[in-house]
Amino acid sequence: MPADEFIVTPWHVEGEIDYDKLIKQFGTEKITVELLKKIEKITGESHFMLRRGIFFSHRDLGALLDDYSKGKKFFLYTGRGPSGHTHIGHLVPWVFAKWLQEKFDTTLYFQLTDDEKFFAKEGLTLEETKLFAYENALDFIALGFNPEKTKIIINTQNIKTLYPIAAQVAKKINFSNTKAVFGFKNETNIGMIFYTALQSAPCFIEDRQVLIPLGVDQDPHFRITRDVAPRIGKPKPSLIHNIMIPALTGPGGKMSASEEAGTIYTTDAPEVVKKKINKYAFSGGQPTVEEHRKIGGNPDIDVPYQYLRIFFEPDDKKLKTIYDDYKSGKMLTGELKAILIDKVNAFLGEHQKKREKAKSQLEKFLFEDK
Ligand code: TRP
Repeated sequence: MPADEFIVTPWHVEGEIDYDKLIKQFGTEKITVELLKKIEKITGESHFMLRRGIFFSHRDLGALLDDYSKGKKFFLYTGRGPSGHTHIGHLVPWVFAKWLQEKFDTTLYFQLTDDEKFFAKEGLTLEETKLFAYENALDFIALGFNPEKTKIIINTQNIKTLYPIAAQVAKKINFSNTKAVFGFKNETNIGMIFYTALQSAPCFIEDRQVLIPLGVDQDPHFRITRDVAPRIGKPKPSLIHNIMIPALTGPGGKMSASEEAGTIYTTDAPEVVKKKINKYAFSGGQPTVEEHRKIGGNPDIDVPYQYLRIFFEPDDKKLKTIYDDYKSGKMLTGELKAILIDKVNAFLGEHQKKREKAKSQLEKFLFEDK
């Protein structure tokens, strides 16, 4: 694919994404300084993921916030396709969802789409995707959600609740519609074709507005939901999109749970994290120390730096020092990697303990069909 081209769909992300172009392509809106101020005014805080443009785009977020200011509450919804173990990139929208939940005091639904990943992936059984759903749920719970306000929906397990809503949605989507949005072919299995109705369903699980924090690749599903909503007498969901998290091995494409080497899993041991980062992390440094000292590195393409920016170094001052030192050549690639290794291992050390505890909490989080 030519260097200036990219593809973003729910099942395939490729190339180096130009996010301004993507906003135009998808027809979403950029998060403006004014909108950031509005969020800050309500929450009393500036979240680094907003400040740094990790969440960069939205649909109808302004209107939702205005309604909220007038006393109209909303709920939150996000999800994960359980195709493998959780990796650190997955945590980005979840951590942000937790912040939103705390600031806006809302319920949150987390959908695990074991059916979707079974339909979409060759070689994964439904039994396996279901097991991954429960595995992924532990990582979600480990982030510290309140079980009173947070419910995990697993598609194959909660179909009794989902199906009547999905049926309402499905009746309003026709085949050419879905082909146009997702590029389905005659060879596409019909599970995939129906699936979008199930991803829509949690949007209407409560009788109020919903806000969905999500990776921008998932936007096409909710473009359909937003078309359908008024036709079934429901409010259109509002969305806030995050950028795709780069794979450890380099720019272009998202971190994929199926590519072992380029992926840091939440269950990785400290030595494994160290090895993966040192061996595989795509670097913006120069080939020799001499050159690096002279020309300096490029933090904008350097994956360790990007991971610090996206997740692991919330302190702007510290991040800027790293940026400047790396760019000037004062900081070497090995030193930058060492900073990330320490941060990731400190985070995962805690996370893995909480993940163990989550096993006994799981029951409390699982959505119960009525
Ligand atoms: N399809 C998503 C994925 O593959 C999972 C998902 C379901 C989701 N519902 C969602 C993601 C709502 C974001 C928001 O990861």
